[in-house]
Amino acid sequence: MNFADQAEERVRHLQARGLIRQLRDLEFYDACHAVDEKGQRLFVACSNDYLGLRFHGDVISAARDVLERAGIGAGGSRLVTGSNSICSAFEREIADFKGSEAALLFSSGYMANVGLLSMIAKEGDLILSDEKNHASIIDGCRLSQGKTLVYPHRDVKYVENSLRTKRVAGANCFIVTDGVFSMDGTVAPLPELLALAEKFDTQLIIDDAHGLEVLGAHGRGSLEHFGMSMGPRIISVGTCSKALGSLGGFVCGPETLVSLLRSRCHQVLCSTMLPPSVVAAARKSLDLLRKSPARVQKIRHLSAMAMDIFQKNSIQIAGDAGAIFPILVGDEMRAISLARELYAQGIYLSEIRYPSVSMGGARLRMTICASYNEEEFMGVITKISKAPIENR
Ligand SMILES: Cc1ncc(COP(=O)(O)O)c(C=O)c1O
Repeated sequence: MNFADQAEERVRHLQARGLIRQLRDLEFYDACHAVDEKGQRLFVACSNDYLGLRFHGDVISAARDVLERAGIGAGGSRLVTGSNSICSAFEREIADFKGSEAALLFSSGYMANVGLLSMIAKEGDLILSDEKNHASIIDGCRLSQGKTLVYPHRDVKYVENSLRTKRVAGANCFIVTDGVFSMDGTVAPLPELLALAEKFDTQLIIDDAHGLEVLGAHGRGSLEHFGMSMGPRIISVGTCSKALGSLGGFVCGPETLVSLLRSRCHQVLCSTMLPPSVVAAARKSLDLLRKSPARVQKIRHLSAMAMDIFQKNSIQIAGDAGAIFPILVGDEMRAISLARELYAQGIYLSEIRYPSVSMGGARLRMTICASYNEEEFMGVITKISKAPIENR
């Protein structure tokens, strides 16, 4: 059987299991409304633009100004073609916001994880990775020369036991976890993991893609949520593509780590830098949030409201903080049909299926955006609550 036949068979197999994917073209006209190909208007309830900043006038103006001055593409990697003051300023500002010594930009959050994890562990080193970590962490671990041990979700005892028994003498060890788990909305047990990192002389890597600008009084993320702050044991990964409404990823940590990544990491050395206009947008978003945490507070308010309605309707939500509300469905076909029913009512809430989650773990992943109009959102959740979700 040649490759074309194999591909056809694989596609058929995916179709039979409800796992084939199709892209849908939506024209957004603000952070949470779009029109589809047929002109149907939709309330989009599943974006990661938690603060609705990608449509903010000041953010767009900041990007437009730089776009006109600096052109569309960056022209090459920062080390080859020359960096620019916008990227350097963003790195200083995000490092300052997170409370870390230094930061380094990558072209996406995905690349930041792959770049960091593939670089830091040497042969013999051990990486302990939560089973629900994002795919970019999994891929970074696969590229690493270290050995990866996947631990059960948030199982601190398991981590401790592994640190005691699986570490080779003299080797480094890294614990890596999402701060907020993207498909479950659960928060990692950071105080306990940091205590283990200190006790066993290891580094704790936190991917805070979904915590930044959502958790903590000032939106500093999952560490602030627990009243913690950055320190020498912690490396934090983030993205500009979610709450900052733009694109790009970053690693925050000690100056020496950033220097090492800058000098050796392929994802930085061998990949074209982000367009400066895109970084300017992320900078402006960060600036807006530093001046006022009102949008972060609005997320809290809408989240509490949503949780209340779901609880009253006995709908089980997997998450425990933040802006992610996964409604567990289980069966893939069932999730597809629920998403279709909601779509027909003008609500875009896409189903999440394998391989983004485990087989049989399909769900509707609703997210909160600070741009939601409270009254409209109440109507949307009421409709979702009335859908035939059989997890009550
Ligand atoms: C936990 C987590 N890390 C990293 C990423 C990747 O970020 P980006 O979209 O900037 O590549 C995502 C994106 O979905 C994510 O959920």
